[in-house]
Amino acid sequence: MSILCDLVVHWCTINNKKIPCSYLTMLESASERIAPSFVTFEYGERFREITSNRQHFAIQQINSAVEEASGAERLIHLIGELPQNELGLEMKFRKHAKEEIFHHSLFVELFDNVFFDIKIDEELRDQVVNCPPNLEAVTHSNIKVTQNRILEEIVQINIGEIRNLVQLKLSKPVVIAHCWDESYLHRCDEVMDRLIHDEGGHIYYTAILIERLIDAGFQNDIVALMDEAFYLFDIEAKRFMWPMEEHYMPNNTM
Ligand SMILES: [Fe+2]
Ligand SMILES: [Fe+2]
Repeated sequence: MSILCDLVVHWCTINNKKIPCSYLTMLESASERIAPSFVTFEYGERFREITSNRQHFAIQQINSAVEEASGAERLIHLIGELPQNELGLEMKFRKHAKEEIFHHSLFVELFDNVFFDIKIDEELRDQVVNCPPNLEAVTHSNIKVTQNRILEEIVQINIGEIRNLVQLKLSKPVVIAHCWDESYLHRCDEVMDRLIHDEGGHIYYTAILIERLIDAGFQNDIVALMDEAFYLFDIEAKRFMWPMEEHYMPNNTM
């Protein structure tokens, strides 16, 4: 079993959840076909190399805070465009968005406490602190998303969260190593575990949705969408890790 499937199985085991077997089979074969860089040893090595730079890693916490907020914003927008509530998506996406908004605050907290010596512009800090969307501000649009787009979103969220989880697992020991304030160490550990737990939960609920969609006959679409999502997140991961190299995005996208 690949490391990605291991991550999911591990999360299910410690949270006492049923293992989503058909999903895992598809995940395994998609990750074999696309072989994303973020499961390789070199990726981990490069990650530790980059994040050993304190200043750089501090700013990374700010970026992560902003990314969490924009993830929530994307979900809130999507809620307003859902056609009907057959998969209970509205409730699930709301819970998910709420957690991403909470994660935003956790990354700000890590920045303030682990990297207390690194200063950023006050105005920028204010913008970062105030960037999460309002959960109550869903505007229901008359234009509804298609079934296809829903499938695409679910698969993209799922694979995106897998990449997030890998990133967080790599981050945890580095964040702790950068934590110079002993009185914050325990809490620091707790924050990282909470982030890891929640992102695992985001993988899990979308995995269960994928299983239901497989049962509903969308298996082939999901295979194609998983390949595409792995491919896109891999390009993004490579651009982040090796920005000086070129990573081609062919025109004939899958
Ligand atoms: Fe998150
Ligand atoms: Fe997440």
